[in-house]
Amino acid sequence: MRKKVTVVGGGFVGSTTAQRIHDAGLADVVLTDIIEGVPAGKALDMAESAPILGTDAHAVGISTASGDYRETANSDIIVITAGFPRKPGMSRDDLLRANYDVIKGVVDAVVKLSPGAILIMVTNPLDAMAQAAFKLSGFSKNRVIGMAGVLDSARMSAFVAMELGVSVDNVHSFVLGGHGDDMVPLVRYSTVAGIPLPELIAKDKLAAIVTRTRKGGAEIVNLLKTGSAYYAPSAAAVEMVAAILKDKKKILPCAAYLEGEYGISGLFVGVPVKLGARGIEQIIEVKLQPEEKAALDKSAASVRELVNILGL
Ligand code: 2OP
Repeated sequence: MRKKVTVVGGGFVGSTTAQRIHDAGLADVVLTDIIEGVPAGKALDMAESAPILGTDAHAVGISTASGDYRETANSDIIVITAGFPRKPGMSRDDLLRANYDVIKGVVDAVVKLSPGAILIMVTNPLDAMAQAAFKLSGFSKNRVIGMAGVLDSARMSAFVAMELGVSVDNVHSFVLGGHGDDMVPLVRYSTVAGIPLPELIAKDKLAAIVTRTRKGGAEIVNLLKTGSAYYAPSAAAVEMVAAILKDKKKILPCAAYLEGEYGISGLFVGVPVKLGARGIEQIIEVKLQPEEKAALDKSAASVRELVNILGL
């Protein structure tokens, strides 16, 4: 039997995530949204592409306006992208509370129907929403994972590949911390064909890549004007889905619930983890230099601030 993945939220990130999973034949996909018609239409459109693409995966779309999530039952993975984007005049706290309310309704509904699922959180503010899903679901910490480090590292790798004119295949970037302006791109642990970045790129250019990585989401928002990125975010979520479904034991940077690792406790923060069939199978700790640890602590403090507002 094929695996089943539910994607909650039929906006650009959610529908592109569903499409990538369907097109790759990774799993049957259920796309949900509170809007009537749109998720069904998008899923039917995907299903009609299947004969051309040669995928046997099924795609179904449902509206959950009535609160009926039965179609999602027994999902292996649930990717949650639902939530509001930040609108003019909205504070960070407003977005936090608005999206907490969305997440609460979604998590309560889906975990009852898929008690064995793994949750991948994509909704922003990412780390706080992952913490909310962890607390609301009652799931073990290995089964609640936040997507962000894969996206932030991909952005950094893209910029490095552009700078050096080398294949993206050669570049491995390493970004720690929360998915915010103070994320921690670790240049020492980022490599091109195994060679650490500081050996290949001048200090000022490396600093510019770090800054561009930190502001990668905003750069896209400023260009799109009416929305935020979705190609790279969906590709990142799907890399995590694939690692879990294929039990790849792949080491990826993800938001994970820390209990003392990196000196941080009771908080979701982006760290390297081993992803396999059981979700987060290991948190990988690497030695940090004092300034790197200070940067990670600063990033964690920003996440803690949001989590405290929500009383999580
Ligand atoms: C991004 O970084 C909006 O979190 C999203 O593009």
